[in-house]
Amino acid sequence: MRAPAVDFAHATPYDEYVGTGLLRALPGPRTDSPEEPVFLVTTRVMELYFGLIRTELRLVLRSIAGDDAPAATAALVRVTRYLEAVNAAWAAFDRLTPPLFNAFRAELGEASGFQSAMYRQIEFMLGDRTGHLAQVHRGDPALHEELLAALRGPSVYDAALALLDRRGMPIPAGTLGRDPAEPYRPDPAVEHAWVRVYTERGPGDDLWEFAEAMTDVAERFAEWRYRHLVTVRRAMGAKIGTGGSSGAEWLARSLTREIFPELWSARTAM
Ligand code: HEM
Repeated sequence: MRAPAVDFAHATPYDEYVGTGLLRALPGPRTDSPEEPVFLVTTRVMELYFGLIRTELRLVLRSIAGDDAPAATAALVRVTRYLEAVNAAWAAFDRLTPPLFNAFRAELGEASGFQSAMYRQIEFMLGDRTGHLAQVHRGDPALHEELLAALRGPSVYDAALALLDRRGMPIPAGTLGRDPAEPYRPDPAVEHAWVRVYTERGPGDDLWEFAEAMTDVAERFAEWRYRHLVTVRRAMGAKIGTGGSSGAEWLARSLTREIFPELWSARTAM
């Protein structure tokens, strides 16, 4: 049996590879509240996962463009796993009552997750195109441009519909040729295409597996929105958010914006 190496002249290879020094150098809590470090760490963990999810969604887009449904499915399954990890992280806030949150809330100033460019990019990539919200990042040209680029390109849903069309399930030209930056409008013909995927195919078929992997992602993403909303209601009731919105009421609206809409409505028609 060999023991691990213990002699290092400088920072350990682990510290250099992971960048632990950088992590320790991140801004710390501003109050003595025991809940503030949890708030900071959980938010950062979610941001890092959002970055991972964005990378996977880019891979989904490339795989679909190459007509490789199994590769797209594999990446979507990884996105589902990451969303499960992120959703489990909400438990950290289970005991964050309003008095405990108030102990450090003022330190946030106007900061709000609403200003998370990474989250917005994921929404855009999933096809939830509230394009006007990109303007939040006008003051950071590189980030702003990245968001606008995501808006100019097809969403994962747009790409999926083009794939169905190529595979013999016709999608209306008005849907395929629409300006991708505009909000998506559901269409009965798209619903019919998904109905065909489910009624003409089954487990093990590449398009069927792809459709189910898409549905998993949509479900887990809706779960994120729901867990966030409940966390907000537990920690601050119906107060105005630090970002200036009406808080829980405003967030409840985003829950009604369905991800991959006809993948859900098609189920009524089968
Ligand atoms: C105690 C915990 C939290 C509270 C009370 C809270 C509160 C809020 C509120 C009130 C909003 C609406 C915008 C505003 O007026 O500020 C919001 C939006 C948002 N928050 Fe949180 N938040 C919490 C934790 C988190 C965490 C950990 C994240 C992870 C990064 C996050 C990400 C977001 C995102 C992405 C939005 C925009 C949602 C959308 O556009 O639909 N929040 N939050």
